[in-house]
Amino acid sequence: MILVKLGGSVITNKSKPLSPRKAAVTKIARALGRLGEPVIAVHGGGSFGHYWSVKYGMHTRPAEYNMRGVATVKNSMTALNKIVLDGFLEVGLRPYTLPPTALVRGHRVIEQAARDAARIAAAGMTPVTFGDAVWMGGRKTSILSGDRIMSMLAAVLRPRLCVFALGEEGVYDTETRRVIPELPIGARPRLNDVEMDVTGGMARKLSESARIARGGTDVFIVNGNAPERIVDAVKRRRYRGTIIKGAGRGRRTARTS
Ligand code: IPE
Repeated sequence: MILVKLGGSVITNKSKPLSPRKAAVTKIARALGRLGEPVIAVHGGGSFGHYWSVKYGMHTRPAEYNMRGVATVKNSMTALNKIVLDGFLEVGLRPYTLPPTALVRGHRVIEQAARDAARIAAAGMTPVTFGDAVWMGGRKTSILSGDRIMSMLAAVLRPRLCVFALGEEGVYDTETRRVIPELPIGARPRLNDVEMDVTGGMARKLSESARIARGGTDVFIVNGNAPERIVDAVKRRRYRGTIIKGAGRGRRTARTS
């Protein structure tokens, strides 16, 4: 089983509020269909969830955020989820939407529900979940990123591998401007990050990837705009992108700045 994150920067136009990139969704969906292995997909918020989270000043830290803001973020994520589901259906996948509330309570995974998601994937459907605003008890809420959901699911399911399909070629070395082919677990390369991101941008993706890799799972970071790279990475062919090898899986040789 494979866990794939569809980055918000690929499935939406991050520089324009509330603008989906439907063609990117269907292209990725086609690639997922070619993997020949059960997949669980997690998508991000892009110019839907992040746009409203920024407007209402909401973050990953639990706090008493504006409830209209919470409702609006959740509403926009449901709308984006629908666009993703439509794209998956259009190319012949059988998406099975699992809003994050069906998989997590606050920031804790519901193990039984995660295992059921894997069973749903094994049965031939594609569970799809997403980053969202979540209730944290009382009047508190927070933003739970899709990246965090990836590491929560990986901790329970131990997938064969994880893929982050992002809007970049991989992780860049800011000095050489080259993609770093292999990043040691826990390496902290300097990053040029984007605005309109309340969940921590690339730094968060790397910290969650490191968490997954520490659990023994290889993590690939590839450009979701060239989704054949997802297929190549999964099938262990030559691909362009960055790998963080799971702990105990071969030598870690790459250097980083
Ligand atoms: C963000 O999820 C969810 C919300 C802002 C509601 P992610 O942090 O996983 O989204 P992307 O992939 O970076 O856009």
